[in-house]
Amino acid sequence: MSNVLETIMTKAAALNKNIVLPEGEDKRVVEAASKIVKQGLARITLLGNPEEIAQNNPGVDLTGVTIVDPKNYAKTAEYAAMLYELRKAKGMTEEMALQTLHTDYTMYGAMMLKFGDVDGLVSGACHSTANTLRPGLQVIKTAPGIKTVSSSFIMVAPNGPSKYNPDGVAVFGDCAINIEPSAQELADIAISSAATAKNIAGIEPRVAMLSFSTKGSGNDDKFFKSVPKVQEATAIAKASAPDLKLDGEFQFDAAVAPEVGKLKAPDSTVAGNANVFVFPNINAGNIGYKIAQRFGGYMALGPICQGFAKPINDLSRGCNVDDIIAVVAITALQ
Ligand SMILES: CC(C)(COP(=O)(O)OP(=O)(O)OC[C@H]1O[C@@H](n2cnc3c(N)ncnc32)[C@H](O)[C@@H]1OP(=O)(O)O)[C@@H](O)C(=O)NCCC(=O)NCCS
Repeated sequence: MSNVLETIMTKAAALNKNIVLPEGEDKRVVEAASKIVKQGLARITLLGNPEEIAQNNPGVDLTGVTIVDPKNYAKTAEYAAMLYELRKAKGMTEEMALQTLHTDYTMYGAMMLKFGDVDGLVSGACHSTANTLRPGLQVIKTAPGIKTVSSSFIMVAPNGPSKYNPDGVAVFGDCAINIEPSAQELADIAISSAATAKNIAGIEPRVAMLSFSTKGSGNDDKFFKSVPKVQEATAIAKASAPDLKLDGEFQFDAAVAPEVGKLKAPDSTVAGNANVFVFPNINAGNIGYKIAQRFGGYMALGPICQGFAKPINDLSRGCNVDDIIAVVAITALQ
């Protein structure tokens, strides 16, 4: 296990948070629930029918795991009334609210989170990213001052610190949620990714707004206006978070290589030593983190959701038990 992950686990255990796992039908989730509680990493609320969970997972000791059955829980009616209030303007009826909570357990978990009955939600082992995030987007909404829910990966270097990555860790955002962010959304992604770098990765953020252009060296005024978008996002983020070390627009080499940074952006305190990288869209971000992972041997922790008013995280459907445990620990820290 990497040092970064070990530190996250230790910090999470000390917080003793209650995390809801809505996917009681998934064997990996049930096994992770058992291990998390045994290791004292967090308290777990598992959603599903207790008899079915026991039947489908013989030999898994669920002592200490709270199992809530949405179809028979005392607070379901209260959650349904609140869900109706929150979504009636969008066409939800009282009947639909109860029906939703009986069938969409991710929404059920989101309502438990809304009520403060749990501290965080982790789902997605057997649901798509969109179906995992939509309940949170609809009822938990964004944190004060943030308009955009986004995501980042903590990228852990295979051999510790190196010339272009002196921290041995970097944060990449947004590689998984916002497909073509606007300038304002990109600024939100930058500020949220910096918070993830500080609070979860444990590094002092120096944020680079990435592009194929460095400080006006390239332009695409005629086509997609992607360079002006990153320039505008940089200005918005600087105005919203004046104390944050953030600059752009930078090509990746100008962001990480001191010799290139000095040449292309001599006045910047971020050029040449950035550790948080904000990609202009999901295409660049998703491709970028996978190159670092496959060619560079980096471990990618995430995607970590950022900007929700309360912590929610999405698992990859290919996740294993250890991945679930790691994401629960990250969620506890958020
Ligand atoms: C995030 C995502 C799931 C949102 O889904 P969606 O179908 O666009 O959601 P909707 O348009 O129904 O929006 C639901 C609500 O969330 C809000 N919302 C959507 N995206 C949001 C965002 N990034 N930040 C904040 N709020 C957002 C909407 O305003 C809407 O609010 P309302 O219903 O109260 O008006 C979608 O952007 C998506 O699928 N992204 C790519 C995910 C993916 O496939 N990633 C690959 C994995 S590596």
